[in-house]
Amino acid sequence: MTAWEELTISVIGTGYLGATHAACMAELGHRVIAVDVDEDKIAALSEGRLPFYEPGLSELVAKHVGSGALRFTTSFREVAPATIHFLCVGTPQRPRGDGADLSHLDSAVRSLAPFVTEKSLVVGKSTVPVGTADQVRARLRTLTGRPVEVAWNPEFLREGHAVADTVRPDRIVIGSVSAEADEAVRRCYGRITSENPDLPVVSTNYANAELVKTAANAFLATKLSFINVVADMCEAAGGDVAVVAEALGHDPRIGGQFLRAGLGFGGGCLPKDLRAFRDTAARLDVVAGADLLRQVDHVNNERRRHVVDLATEHCGGSVLGVRVAVLGAAFKPGSDDVRDSPALNVAASLHLRGAQVTVHDPQALSNARKEFPALDYAENLTDALTGASLALVLTEWEDYRGLDPAAVGALVERRVVLDARNALDRVRWTAAGWTVHTVGRSQQPHARRPHPPSPRGVGADQLGEPVGVG
Ligand code: UDX
Repeated sequence: MTAWEELTISVIGTGYLGATHAACMAELGHRVIAVDVDEDKIAALSEGRLPFYEPGLSELVAKHVGSGALRFTTSFREVAPATIHFLCVGTPQRPRGDGADLSHLDSAVRSLAPFVTEKSLVVGKSTVPVGTADQVRARLRTLTGRPVEVAWNPEFLREGHAVADTVRPDRIVIGSVSAEADEAVRRCYGRITSENPDLPVVSTNYANAELVKTAANAFLATKLSFINVVADMCEAAGGDVAVVAEALGHDPRIGGQFLRAGLGFGGGCLPKDLRAFRDTAARLDVVAGADLLRQVDHVNNERRRHVVDLATEHCGGSVLGVRVAVLGAAFKPGSDDVRDSPALNVAASLHLRGAQVTVHDPQALSNARKEFPALDYAENLTDALTGASLALVLTEWEDYRGLDPAAVGALVERRVVLDARNALDRVRWTAAGWTVHTVGRSQQPHARRPHPPSPRGVGADQLGEPVGVG
């Protein structure tokens, strides 16, 4: 048996996780049947169209649909030839409470049960609370009347890097109760591990595999809230969180990633996984853990309020009737996802305070419109910025970093920008006549080596590569 034999696998659920996993499994040399109850989604995917923005994924889907290695269907019956079934359905936050809603998982298991045999392996990839794999195993036994092998194999992909994170993961974690199940999951990733023999593969029990995923996201969230608390301290003490974070990050025990202070985290994963982990801590009676994680969530939510307050302050105490240009709607750059987006949350809060808010985003406008139809949206930066008395940078897209401050200055009513992601080059913007407000940094920009201020002052015509607006 070669390390990367072709397997026939099924993927249940074709959202972010499932669509990516299905296409990447085909890329890794397997035959894949992906099933979802959403007919529109399946119709789009069958034509190689994605219902969301993810660089490189539509090409991969089209390639493998074209070659016949990947098939999308709404009929569960078609998963029957597969020996390994990956559960990739969503586990959103429950409408009431902080815990995860496992109803999609339960219905996926029910739909799958008639098609599993004694040779099948069911592999959970969805992010779930500890204890879920055992429940799925028990449920399958009840539904089929015989023992069914179950493994848990959490996914760590980031939006915007989903394909690379799946085909070049930094670790593979497999929770199982048998060596055969563990081996079968390893075979799915055979191509990856044979090309990268040093890749850590952690074979463990269900509880560890389940905990590592939620713990990873809760840890990242904690790191972000920590640096945002440091940002508050910098603001109060005249420090600069960007400098503090850079110096902190040189310590290999800390590491430089996830130390960008600003408006805090959002999206479809970090906030709900943090809350689910807090809920689990409370359920397990780990009171200090639940308290810590509640504070992490609280600090993060306060970021949004803080930025709304700063914007109000920079408009003289009221934003009523003030034209505000909001740059960014997606929860992070490189994504069209607006779920729990800090940027849209701030835009909507300013709107509720009476500001005339116009929102721009390079990718997320149509999702943003659906979420907050009452806001005004601009397809291009010129429309968003013209006549604005305050500009806010709320998502750190490269398009905004590269803006020419002089060209933007010619459009606005007042050259005042609140850079809530610390994305802009303050020296350049200040030199172009802008008042640049930041978060977690003293107002006096320290010139950094890559951009020394010229002794004569930096003119708009000396600003390097102007990207322009529009
Ligand atoms: C996250 C996890 O990284 C991933 O492992 C998991 O599988 C799903 O959740 P994702 O939601 O795609 O992935 O986004 P990520 O790039 O991790 O960013 C999460 C949030 O943190 C974003 O809102 C981002 O803007 C914010 N963030 C990130 C910061 O505010 N500062 C940083 O330094 C890094």
